Amino acid sequence: MSSLALIGLQWGDEGKGKMVDWISARFDLAVRCQGGPNAGHTVWVNGKRWIFHQIPAGILNPQIKVGIAAGCVLHPQTLFEEWEKLDAAGVDYQSRTLIDPRVHLILPHHRLLDRLRDEARGKAKIGVTGRGIGPCYQEKYARYGIRVGDLFSPSLSDRIDVLLGYVNPILEKVFDQEPFGRQGILDDLLRVKDRITPFVGDAAEVVEEYLAQGKKVLFEGAQGVLLDIDHGSYPYVTSSHPGTGGIPSGIGISPKSIGEVIGLTKAYATRVGTGPFPTEATGEVEAQLQKIGNEFGASTGRRRRCGWLDLPLLRYAIRSNGVDGLAVTKLDVLDDFDVIKLCIGYRRADGSIAKEIKPWDENAGEPVYEEIEGWRVPTDGVRSLEELPDRARAYLERISRELDVPLWLVSVGQDRKATIVLPDFPFK
Ligand code: IMP
Repeated sequence: MSSLALIGLQWGDEGKGKMVDWISARFDLAVRCQGGPNAGHTVWVNGKRWIFHQIPAGILNPQIKVGIAAGCVLHPQTLFEEWEKLDAAGVDYQSRTLIDPRVHLILPHHRLLDRLRDEARGKAKIGVTGRGIGPCYQEKYARYGIRVGDLFSPSLSDRIDVLLGYVNPILEKVFDQEPFGRQGILDDLLRVKDRITPFVGDAAEVVEEYLAQGKKVLFEGAQGVLLDIDHGSYPYVTSSHPGTGGIPSGIGISPKSIGEVIGLTKAYATRVGTGPFPTEATGEVEAQLQKIGNEFGASTGRRRRCGWLDLPLLRYAIRSNGVDGLAVTKLDVLDDFDVIKLCIGYRRADGSIAKEIKPWDENAGEPVYEEIEGWRVPTDGVRSLEELPDRARAYLERISRELDVPLWLVSVGQDRKATIVLPDFPFK
């Protein structure tokens, strides 16, 4: 099967941007299946940093087409800003971009409500990205949403009325805000329509056509499986399905269209926003991970919480998402550590050790760590497993063995070249 799903196995920020860009050189089509501009996929090419929130991060590979599929939410302004940056750099996206008509549009009131609602939660706030994701998905499921395809509907204006009949009382009565007017939204949406019309098409059909022709399709994950709305650390989650299961439903294709699944994890762990993070580090260690790993959100600039790799949570993520191979990213960030901690189990209340835990289980117990001596040799110039310092290689092999998944790729730096490809990786 000539398709690959690339998913994050942690709480997002696993370095998907770099890996998507690198892998995309081998693919004909890259499709995003869920989420929206809460994602920030960072790609470095020739010393230039690109951050993609809306456009699939494979776009810098000139041969690839990119698609934004039905399960995504789209903030038009963010898309247009990304297009303008591509225009300025002379990157053609016009002939290579597809936006599904079923994609829901993020409107100004979504961003307003996102912020107001999270603030109103007080101590229980989720720490949302503030990009309007939750309110947009909420209105989608409440059947008030406006989709890309609605821009072409004669009843667009009526749909806006129905939406405002629901939204304005909330804005006025709950949050003491000014109501939105129909005409302003309609005018904005008609401008959006003018710009995106040439790009609108059925992403499911295109994926199926590509696969039928034996072309290679990459399903580009966003966020991470521990943030899944159903299977993550609810309520501290996003509003979509970042795992493998979100791909067929997010595009509208058969689950059997997914060939291989590559799961990404950092060599350590990070989390933005609130919510449980059992292996979170403190003090000097956390500060060192943050500084060396440059752990600040690509979307929001927020400081990421940092800690150690959590094998029991990864086992859950791998098992429940059918992961075939592993990509370990940011190994080089650990180069300077004297001691690296690895969470190998959780001690339950009865004293037994759990090898796998669920992100939503508040009674999973306490992390049990093993301390590993660091390798203290730079790895960023290494291009093969054999060249790695023994202790770094042993760390990776241990992770792969414990998780019972072959290691496919290792990333040791932000540059495309800083990638170690293992013999088992099927898309060389
Ligand atoms: P939302 O997706 O903006 O609603 O945010 C919900 C939670 O998911 C918050 O804790 C965010 O920090 C987190 N989150 C959403 N998208 C990402 C991402 O791309 N990387 C890391 N965390 C994310």
